[in-house]
Amino acid sequence: MAVTLRRGTRLVIASHNEGKVREIADLLAPHGIELVSAGKLGLPEPEETGASFAENAALKAVAAARASGLPALADDSGLEVKALGGEPGIHSARWGGAARDFGLAMQRVHRELDASGAKDLTANFTCALALAAPDGEVQGFEDKVFGTIVWPGRGTRGFGYDPIFVPEGYRETFGEMEPELKDSISHRARAFEKLMLAAYDDD
Ligand code: IMP
Repeated sequence: MAVTLRRGTRLVIASHNEGKVREIADLLAPHGIELVSAGKLGLPEPEETGASFAENAALKAVAAARASGLPALADDSGLEVKALGGEPGIHSARWGGAARDFGLAMQRVHRELDASGAKDLTANFTCALALAAPDGEVQGFEDKVFGTIVWPGRGTRGFGYDPIFVPEGYRETFGEMEPELKDSISHRARAFEKLMLAAYDDD
């Protein structure tokens, strides 16, 4: 059955990425939903074998919901650079290597853009959210934020590729921005708006 979120609902966040979990917690904070972390429940991280953000989000959410017997929310997201044909895309986490070193991943974006000779530095982040019920029914929501890649990176806030991404209409990178501002314009915030519209019942 499709999940309905209400005040007091216990919801598993099917992610082991601290930066994401923090942002998801901030986005859900006003709605009175009780978050349970996948790490605390000892849930394994399934392999991301999907061919899209949406498929990967769905497989993480369904695995966590089935294993815990609770509704689960997963986020699959990443940076898509136009001149790199949309890479790193669904491989965004993997570009950080086993140590998840995003200093190296950002250098690789810079190096590959440099080598391509591209003048077009436009990019976007995409966030796919999947909300799964313990019986495996899953709802998906996706959105993007567009902007430009800058080098060198700036700022120590946020996570992942935030220091090299300037969203359209702003001068600061996501890494320099107040978290509240990022949380009001990001790909994750926009996908969350869709999720809450479809699945939250505040009666
Ligand atoms: P996954 O969805 O857990 O496979 O990994 C997504 C990866 O994309 C993260 O490890 C980050 O490197 C990157 N990413 C996703 N969302 C953001 C964001 O809001 N800011 C910066 N990097 C992000």
